[in-house]
Amino acid sequence: MKKQKIVIANWKMKLNLAETIGLAKEIKIKFQDFNKGRVVVCPGSLSLAEVSKIFKASHVKLGAQNVFWEEKGAYTGEVSTEQLAETGCGYVIVGHSERRKYLLENYEMIHLKLKAVINSDNLIPIVCIGENREERKTDRRDFVLVDQLHQALGGINILANQKIIIAYEPIWAIGSGVAIEPAEAEYAHKIVKLTLNDIFGIEKANNNFDIIYGGSIDGKNVKGFAKIENIDGLLVGGASLNAEEFYKVARAILK
Ligand code: PGA
Repeated sequence: MKKQKIVIANWKMKLNLAETIGLAKEIKIKFQDFNKGRVVVCPGSLSLAEVSKIFKASHVKLGAQNVFWEEKGAYTGEVSTEQLAETGCGYVIVGHSERRKYLLENYEMIHLKLKAVINSDNLIPIVCIGENREERKTDRRDFVLVDQLHQALGGINILANQKIIIAYEPIWAIGSGVAIEPAEAEYAHKIVKLTLNDIFGIEKANNNFDIIYGGSIDGKNVKGFAKIENIDGLLVGGASLNAEEFYKVARAILK
């Protein structure tokens, strides 16, 4: 069976509540007659409950931008998998590079978060990996990707129906306005795939994982990525803040 591709919007901390609600309503209308692939929107955590109501009974699903690894307890400021599921989230981003940079999140933490999400049984994790500019310049990208995947996923026990999304996001391309060449994403995705084969075996790597690209995708450059065989979808930041532009991206990649 051919995989359903996925497009995920990451609204980061860019909108206040009124703006979030406005954009969610616009997106709901845009996608009213659209039933291809999977569409996910990840708004800021304080607006999840409101956006959940808007996307109820719509093709658009809800995701969160972060989660904590403990189930419950004295963890001031953190949000659990149960709390996310309660608000209607079906997806959660884990280890975005902005959290790695500003909150010093490392792959040990990402591993714990991933475990918690998998154990919770009702969320699909979107695990972010990707090299920075220096690592790219010094030709260490392949090693970095393999290492990040091993740290995040090593020792994780995946159940037959558990899905995991790996988002390859070269850090230097995020928010830069310039995506990488599609051929380069194709190559990086091969590295990811081979590493998943190594860790989990070919069958699980094929059936349980999606490999998506993120970094300055927009309505124009998406066409190059739509042609590539081994891209299961896209993680979209800036371009997802405009309903029309996000719709263009979704239409190009989801067929
Ligand atoms: P961008 O963000 O599309 O604005 O580059 C992507 C991301 O950070 O996930």
